[in-house]
Amino acid sequence: MSEDNVGTPLANSVGLVTQSPLAFALVLVGLYWAQKIIRGADSSRPPRTPYWIPWVGNAVEMGKDPDGFFSNMTKTLGPIFRVTTLGQERVFVTSPSLISQVYRDSQNFDFLAVRVEIGRQAFSIDDRVGTTPYMFDNYMPALHHILLPANIKSMTSTYLQSAHDTLVGAISSLDGASGPLKTIIIPPAYRAAAHAGFGPDFPAEKTWKGFTTFDESFHMINAGLPRFLFRKQFKAWEGVTDIIQAYLEEKKDEVHELSPFLQAALDGRQAGWTERDISIILATQLWALQANAIWAAYWLVAELLQQPDGLAPLVAELDAVRKQWQAAHPSTPFGPAFFDDMIVSNPKDVPLLSSAIQETLRYSSSTFSMRHVTAPVQLGGYELRPGDKVICVTRQTHLDEDIYPRANELDIRRYLDPPRPVKDGKPVPNHFMAFGGGVSMCEGRHFAMTELRLFVAILLTYATLEVDEGCTTRPELSRERMGLGIMHANGDMDVILRKRKL
Ligand code: HEM
Ligand SMILES: *[C@@H]1O[C@H](CO)[C@@H](O)[C@H](O)[C@H]1NC(C)=O
Repeated sequence: MSEDNVGTPLANSVGLVTQSPLAFALVLVGLYWAQKIIRGADSSRPPRTPYWIPWVGNAVEMGKDPDGFFSNMTKTLGPIFRVTTLGQERVFVTSPSLISQVYRDSQNFDFLAVRVEIGRQAFSIDDRVGTTPYMFDNYMPALHHILLPANIKSMTSTYLQSAHDTLVGAISSLDGASGPLKTIIIPPAYRAAAHAGFGPDFPAEKTWKGFTTFDESFHMINAGLPRFLFRKQFKAWEGVTDIIQAYLEEKKDEVHELSPFLQAALDGRQAGWTERDISIILATQLWALQANAIWAAYWLVAELLQQPDGLAPLVAELDAVRKQWQAAHPSTPFGPAFFDDMIVSNPKDVPLLSSAIQETLRYSSSTFSMRHVTAPVQLGGYELRPGDKVICVTRQTHLDEDIYPRANELDIRRYLDPPRPVKDGKPVPNHFMAFGGGVSMCEGRHFAMTELRLFVAILLTYATLEVDEGCTTRPELSRERMGLGIMHANGDMDVILRKRKL
């Protein structure tokens, strides 16, 4: 039998593989396209984006310039199309009207399975915890409740206290120095948010290194690449989990004084969650709490410092409310009380700050909302089938020139009057989707807006920042984080910080 095989197509192709891998690859690509052309396109299904290399698909183009890729495909194929990347085919949806249809129909477009999958894949949540009715019917609603606007007061005041202490201290010691903007913004923002979520004596600094090691690779971990590639990152995350677990152990006699986040997770004991399970769940909360907001604070400052007016318009607004407050409270020492009265309780008095934050989120977010199709359903005139994976590309709406004129510019006044954009003759109510939408919309958005207002207000009240003329580098939005929320910065810039005399 072995002799007979000589000269058969199989043997020839084995020879081809060893002698000329390139020719072999070309044969494969040829066969692949031949079968595609013979099968033809099914016009009831969303169109497929063209690509040449099987399995890899559009991964390279999409990774290099996601905004350009999605705009081009939307122009040529319409707002819904199928894309293959690294062996996976997914349906991408790029118009606000179709995205809103997906968000509203949570029956046919399911999120639960996606959430469980991310929990398992990225955060190592055991199905014994992640897929139980207790998780869906008790823990998730408890989390939702904790983060309602009326319930975030104590988190907010812990944030304020911590950000105030850290920034005032850092500003005194850095006064007059030049340094990378990241080191001025990111660690204090991280520390204050960790205290807000987990309590003022949570050892936030100890979790920082593990958090960044894990988070910097999160886009690849979440992409479903084999776990063994990320041993270091998972080990770092276990370290973060260890710190949380040790903290819970240390606080075990003061349970009733713990933050609502910790209490909600500890309640999982009722459902048989172990101390490790509880710490793993809390680590995911730490990630949600931190992954986006610290970068939003960074982009607001980094982008404004590169504009002609810089931070001056925001400083002017803050100084005006400060003077007003000081006149009304002549005997109260200036400090956290001001920020509590004006920034937390009366955000309406700082409309430009709120607009600037919202604009920063529009400008720097790349949010994918993922859904699994559970039953045959029509979308945009095409048929979707059970098992289809849908991704809503919210950033395309943020970059749409019909919706946001000069969309590639960060304009802090854009949201001063609520925009009422119209596209194709129809209003676009969901023109802002940095927090996602529908059943998976960010639970932390109210707290996020408040913490960002506080952080920027404290920083700009106590310090001035200017670009160090000697520094020629500028940060850039990191495209590789596409879909995961606020983009990180590649590169950085040096700024000179000075303490203000109030
Ligand atoms: C600028 C800050 C933030 C941004 C841009 C942001 C963005 C997002 C996005 C895009 C999602 C997924 C939405 C979707 O799939 O449709 C999400 C989910 C979530 N976020 Fe945020 N987030 C921020 C801050 C926060 C904060 C501070 C917290 C906690 C206090 C938080 C807690 C959560 C939680 C718990 C979820 C999960 C919701 C779910 O699984 O149903 N986020 N966030
Ligand atoms: C989008 O289309 C333009 C014009 O055809 C082309 O120059 C550009 O490379 C395309 N970008 C991507 C990411 O496909």
